[in-house]
Amino acid sequence: MNTSKRDVRASSVLSPGREEDVTEDRALRPVRFEEFVGQEKLKSNLKIFVEASRRRGDALDHVLLYGPPGLGKTTLAYILAGELGVTIRTTSGPVMERPGDLAAILTQLADRDVLFIDEIHRMPPVVEEILYPAMEDYKLDIVIGQGAGAQTLKLTLPRFTLIGATTRTGLITAPLRSRFGVDAHLNYYQVSEMVQIVKRSAKLLGVVIDDAGADEIGRRARGTPRVANRLLRRVRDFAQVKGDGRITKAMSELALTALEVDGLGLDPMDRNILQALVDKFHGGPVGLDTLSVAVGEESDTLSDVYEPFLIQSGLLERTQRGRVATATAYRYLGRETPEKAPELFGTTEGR
Ligand SMILES: Nc1ncnc2c1ncn2[C@@H]1O[C@H](COP(=O)(O)OP(=O)(O)OP(=O)(O)O)[C@@H](O)[C@H]1O
Ligand SMILES: [Mg+2]
Repeated sequence: MNTSKRDVRASSVLSPGREEDVTEDRALRPVRFEEFVGQEKLKSNLKIFVEASRRRGDALDHVLLYGPPGLGKTTLAYILAGELGVTIRTTSGPVMERPGDLAAILTQLADRDVLFIDEIHRMPPVVEEILYPAMEDYKLDIVIGQGAGAQTLKLTLPRFTLIGATTRTGLITAPLRSRFGVDAHLNYYQVSEMVQIVKRSAKLLGVVIDDAGADEIGRRARGTPRVANRLLRRVRDFAQVKGDGRITKAMSELALTALEVDGLGLDPMDRNILQALVDKFHGGPVGLDTLSVAVGEESDTLSDVYEPFLIQSGLLERTQRGRVATATAYRYLGRETPEKAPELFGTTEGR
């Protein structure tokens, strides 16, 4: 069980990258709006908000960025700070255990600075509570010490912009959510945008790639820039060893087949999930935790990383009673679609 779990992870395009990849990732990260491909509507709105706050000489309103992993939330946070011409300080929800951890960061901010909190849905409630007055009135109320000796410290903070990022909006509490002035949802990218991203990254990496080669990688990168960059690097490895270093359609196909990424961009774990749903649970509905045990993957990873793309591809649906495989999933696996009530294919979701 454990070995097969590791095997699947090792071959997954979604698994954490190697160290050199992480460094290269940084090199590939767009730093201005102009370099950030896609998300046009969101980008043009953000540009206006940045311009307006600059003209007023005011801090940009707080921004909540949400969407599946690898779509560019962290990238956008850095771009926003860059375009505002201010310093960005970063932390993440789970890192801050006590109110003092957040207070220490807040008191270091300069006027109009950006504070980026990644995984903001994982902030402990005691920390979140001191964020409310900080976001609303730039006030910090913090209790120091315990019992009779406890003192309340009241501080005025500089005007700052909080940028929060999350893969799970459902887990953001209503009071926190209501304090963001800008709600920014990132969607999966169009294939044409993905191809553009692949070409841009190839250029930065100094790799020669033709149109058809870029097309093949772009189509199979599940609408996710991080996956595109990762696939590009692996195809480059194949091109160097099995070819003359140039990436063509044939080379992309060869490498992606070896990586077990199929024409839709699905990887072995995606197929495991669909197969488990269909073979072990008769297509569902099945609860997330049960499915998670069946495929040997954490339920958070299933719901944050794998499911959004399977849903987007029309292969899986989340219903009130659990996860179900769609008729498209049966076709994808080459199985006969069983006779069952339409609601068991998830067509009545949310009703
Ligand atoms: N619009 C884009 N254009 C070009 N490259 C992009 C774009 N968005 C993201 N990337 C690339 O994809 C990589 C992943 O993006 P990023 O780290 O911003 O994703 P994220 O949404 O913060 O993911 P996570 O939820 O895992 O933190 C970046 O290193 C960057 O190179
Ligand atoms: Mg990020």
